[in-house]
Amino acid sequence: MKKTRDLENYKFYIHTFGCQMNENDSERIAGILTKEGAKISALLEESNLIILNTCAVREKSEEKLYSFLGRLASLKKTKNITIGVAGCVAQLYGSELSEQKPFVDFVIGPDNYQKLPQIISDNIGEKILSTSWSPEWQETPSELIFRESQVSAYVTIMEGCNNFCSYCIVPFTRGREKCRPIQNIIHEVKDLADTGYLEIQLLGQNVNSYRDPQTGKDFSALLRELNRVDGIEWIRFITSHPKNFSPEIGFAIKESEKVCRQLHLPVQSGSSSVLKRMNRGYTREDYLEKIELLRDLMPDINLSTDIIVGFPGETDEEYKETFILLEKVRFTNIFSFRYSVRPKTAASKKQDTVPLEEKRRRLIEVQSLQKKIQLEHNQSLIGSIMKVLCLGESKKAPRIFSGRNEGYQVVNFKSKKDFIGKFVDVCITSCGPYSLIGEIVL
Ligand code: SAH
Ligand code: SF4
Ligand code: F3S
Repeated sequence: MKKTRDLENYKFYIHTFGCQMNENDSERIAGILTKEGAKISALLEESNLIILNTCAVREKSEEKLYSFLGRLASLKKTKNITIGVAGCVAQLYGSELSEQKPFVDFVIGPDNYQKLPQIISDNIGEKILSTSWSPEWQETPSELIFRESQVSAYVTIMEGCNNFCSYCIVPFTRGREKCRPIQNIIHEVKDLADTGYLEIQLLGQNVNSYRDPQTGKDFSALLRELNRVDGIEWIRFITSHPKNFSPEIGFAIKESEKVCRQLHLPVQSGSSSVLKRMNRGYTREDYLEKIELLRDLMPDINLSTDIIVGFPGETDEEYKETFILLEKVRFTNIFSFRYSVRPKTAASKKQDTVPLEEKRRRLIEVQSLQKKIQLEHNQSLIGSIMKVLCLGESKKAPRIFSGRNEGYQVVNFKSKKDFIGKFVDVCITSCGPYSLIGEIVL
């Protein structure tokens, strides 16, 4: 008879790499395992089940996994531990990963987390690979999700991506788009409001293309419905794709008082020819038009973006168009990356022509321009009073609390009283390029 092992024998530790979607998946994994009797731990050293939830978006993200696995391989020589690799690298390499890293006990893709308890209890000296796709939405009941924060909650509304941007691995790691039924989303958000959450962040690779599988309700309709949930004060969402960002979504943000006036709209490049090669489905002009519309509707909206420099064949002129776009739009925050070749993608078949040194130079230039823009913007906020949702206390400096304003900027302030999970009014007294510092106004 096949041997199995009770989940109550496990203390587990999850290390998460990558995006918010992965963070929410780790919360789901933690909930699924806890329900079956396993105990969660914040310490790797005291755990006998270690799960790495991985990211494959850039080469560097993968490298982080391999160095972590190296450490675990040595640990396994001295201790009886079970090691699992989940997430995007697991989905991408599946059996290859399992063969190359024989000390890994199981490899599991994002569509298979419901099977985890079974996989773990069956795993007695047998390697398990579970990377199949499921065409349907995999619902995890809200009460099962073991959330990190008691104030702000992630709510996944769709999975996967159909866009196949030529540089991007996500369609290969997350499969095709699947939308979560609107009733399940509303139910989860109501449930979160009842448990005291004040903020929700809707997640999806391309939330603007959300459609309820039954009624066909779109993303702007979803925002309007969630705006009616009592108890929730702030609603955010990530990620928007400029191609699918319609004026209706802009109106829904403006007219829904709980939807924060903040938008992450990744442009990737300021050059229409590069955008075409990236298969992004919009031009520089289309993008700028959407920004103009948003600013006409809501002059105080905070905008952020993602930038890739050194895409194959990116000329100096094309790169300069990105630089000029950043100067023109003046985002409140950007995430900028050097192009990284990813297997299976269309761009990986092109020659990676921009020398590493030049990619580095472009990235440094973009980041120092942005630093200057952010510092100027933050300085202009000194003296103003803003509403801040307090999210936590600094680990290094007790009595220093940290929160976010409506525009999703980090605001730090000193306080004798604990304000975690509360809204406070903060007067900004100083700043750096990446955060604001202020005092509570009582
Ligand atoms: N779904 C989101 C984000 C996906 S990944 C979107 O469509 O915008 C997050 C960011 O990683 C991307 O916006 C992009 O800027 C960056 N990225 C993705 N693939 C990359 C690659 N091969 N090299 C460098 N950066 C990459
Ligand atoms: Fe990747 Fe493009 Fe999909 Fe975003 S929209 S996940 S960048 S393929
Ligand atoms: Fe990374 Fe997968 Fe998210 S590749 S960015 S963890 S969807």
